[in-house]
Amino acid sequence: MAMKIAPSILSADFLNLQRDVENLEANGADLLHVDIMDGHFVPNLSFGPQTVAALRPLTKLPLDVHLMVDGPEQFIETFAKAGADTILVHLESTPHIYHVLQLIQKYNVKAGIVINPGTPVDALKAVLPIVQQVLVMTVNPGFGGQEFLETTLSKITHLDQLRQVEADYDFEIEVDGGINDQTIKSTADAGADIFVAGSYVFSANTPGQQIQTLRNLIE
Ligand code: DX5
Ligand code: ZN
Repeated sequence: MAMKIAPSILSADFLNLQRDVENLEANGADLLHVDIMDGHFVPNLSFGPQTVAALRPLTKLPLDVHLMVDGPEQFIETFAKAGADTILVHLESTPHIYHVLQLIQKYNVKAGIVINPGTPVDALKAVLPIVQQVLVMTVNPGFGGQEFLETTLSKITHLDQLRQVEADYDFEIEVDGGINDQTIKSTADAGADIFVAGSYVFSANTPGQQIQTLRNLIE
């Protein structure tokens, strides 16, 4: 599977978002990762659907919308209509996870499931046949710039093994949190295909170089 680098705009310059997004697209990003936080499910606030709708006409890159919100079911239609290409919901955020994933697909949007560091892969079994992406959080969600949690690697390996033996599983494995030039290779070796990186990509004033460095480490 092709490796995809997904810069997270959480670390972009919000007053120059158009400039930063155009720069990422011109410099080899494969997806744009958009973190939506509600101050309840995670202890932080970020963007809403207006930001997704404003980004949509600015770029051809797929918008990978990561919902860190309680009760995601009430926001699926809004984010689908705003232009999300994938909507990722946390298993921990709703008692109706199967329904939410079906709802996402009803809008012809790819459905992704996300697990926090404390949630085991076994808890995903019922939904793995119906998702297109599985996002393994490699930090506790809520903030950019945190340290990668090594203990999450075995979950990536487990998911990669499962999709090799189960004929009805067809999902990409995504990692998010603490991905940089020191950590990306271990996640690729474990089986990840999509790599979200926020603070690392924006850490120097050269996102293109940072993206290329990450790509060189995994291809
Ligand atoms: C954290 C978000 C991440 C964040 C990653 O809750 O889901 O997408 O932007 O930031 P870094 O790459 O700095 O860990
Ligand atoms: Zn994210």
